[in-house]
Amino acid sequence: MPILTRPASMERIATPALAEKFIAEQVADLRAQIGNKKVLLALSGGVDSSVTAALLIRAVGDQLVCVHVNHGLLRKGEPEQVIRVFREELKANLIYVDATDRFLDKLAGVADPEAKRKIIGKEFIEVFAEEARKLDGITFLAQGTIWPDILESEGGIKAHHNAGGLPDDLNFELVEPVRILFKDEVRTVGKALGLPDNMVFRQPFPGPGLGVRCVGAITRDRLEAVRESDAILREEFEKNGLAGKVWQYFTIVPDFRTTGIRDGKRTEDWPVVIRAVNTRDAMTATVQDLPFALLQHLTARITSEVKGVSRVLYDLTPKPTGTIEWE
Ligand code: XMP
Repeated sequence: MPILTRPASMERIATPALAEKFIAEQVADLRAQIGNKKVLLALSGGVDSSVTAALLIRAVGDQLVCVHVNHGLLRKGEPEQVIRVFREELKANLIYVDATDRFLDKLAGVADPEAKRKIIGKEFIEVFAEEARKLDGITFLAQGTIWPDILESEGGIKAHHNAGGLPDDLNFELVEPVRILFKDEVRTVGKALGLPDNMVFRQPFPGPGLGVRCVGAITRDRLEAVRESDAILREEFEKNGLAGKVWQYFTIVPDFRTTGIRDGKRTEDWPVVIRAVNTRDAMTATVQDLPFALLQHLTARITSEVKGVSRVLYDLTPKPTGTIEWE
């Protein structure tokens, strides 16, 4: 496959018309490259993999096989949305793997953040590779690599996962249809392809998912508290017009209990920490100035709706000194 580089003269894809032009060119190129062969894609539901999937569906239909691995650390409603949008609306050939128990069993008792990340990354590749081995006649592996990934890899800043992450017996050719795009262009193309706004304009979500927000050793009950409080926060941000304005917002549940009181009785429950930050490049970040009334409303909802939670805090720390995630 020719290695595409972004021509210096390339116009920024900022309008629906330019997005349509890009889509038409890519669809023609993908058809020429793929012919009647089959393509495999790990579809996380993030912007880049979703746009990659939608482009490939447009180009080669059910010659694309999408695998959505639910590692049990996704946000509330995410796997359901991937299934609804891709299987039901776009008629994609989608394999859904609920690997929750596998991941949570491997993570049981592991408190070190980097060890957690390694387990999640390694297990993900294993689950994906197992699915790939079950399939016959796959020639290509599609990836949602984007232009900043290439620049960062070349600059030695980040090592981006690529086909190299898969075991040697899975020797696929790479297809990277959004490789020359910047993030804002991927979103414009995604919108032109008809993907829903809450998929195309969604906030960044780390690969290890809620796993790094359930601080220390993950337990199912505390993970549920992270997932439910995150869903409330997202719902309230949506209602209050903050969803598209704040760069990243989520909740964290630390691994300790504090004393509380409910129905006249002493409780020992978890606190929920709210984090809402703005940044350009995630290297530094400032804290969103949230209205006090909204913070009080969030506190009331989270302490009454989320099991095992009796206290809510707002993290006022910019980066530095705090990182955006808690671990
Ligand atoms: P930190 O916590 O380092 O986060 O200030 C900066 C940005 O990176 C995201 N992040 C990750 N993304 N895998 C990812 O794909 C990870 O392990 C990971 N850790 C942090 C974080 O959500 C924030 O947007």
